[in-house]
Amino acid sequence: MNIGIDIEEIERFAKYLKNKNCLQRFFVKEEISYSLQKKNAVQHLAVRFAAKEAVWKALRSTENIKLSIADISIKNTKDGKPYVCIKRKRCKKINISLSHTKKYVVAVAIVFDKIY
Ligand SMILES: CC(C)(COP(=O)(O)OP(=O)(O)OC[C@H]1O[C@@H](n2cnc3c(N)ncnc32)[C@H](O)[C@@H]1OP(=O)(O)O)[C@@H](O)C(=O)NCCC(=O)NCCS
Repeated sequence: MNIGIDIEEIERFAKYLKNKNCLQRFFVKEEISYSLQKKNAVQHLAVRFAAKEAVWKALRSTENIKLSIADISIKNTKDGKPYVCIKRKRCKKINISLSHTKKYVVAVAIVFDKIY
């Protein structure tokens, strides 16, 4: 089992909203559309970025694979619970939890087992 955590300042992500190329470099279309439909889109983008970093940290020490931030995506179940996809496929061996405040977002990831 392994754990990863990341905290981000929301403000840093405001510019992403104005730059489609930036958005598409880090986020898949489901992450973008989920965030844009919310009242405060930037905090949802920021927490997704934090979650990708937390997952990456948790995977780094156990997996002998090269993953970029864009290979890790975050989706939500119908009741809002976030889950992780690796290269667009749901990965049930990783659990995440996300939280936002006005200024910061935080994400924790736990990897239960080798994913490959
Ligand atoms: C889901 C809940 C825990 C979020 O807590 P919060 O303090 O409002 O917000 P936080 O910033 O800490 O967390 C938000 C994140 O929680 C996560 N979340 C949402 N629903 C979730 C669920 N069912 N299980 C686990 N995580 C959940 C999401 O990742 C969300 O961020 P995202 O939308 O960017 O993906 C809270 O709204 C809750 O308990 N809801 C269920 C009960 C409810 O609706 N109560 C209101 C009755 S008055």
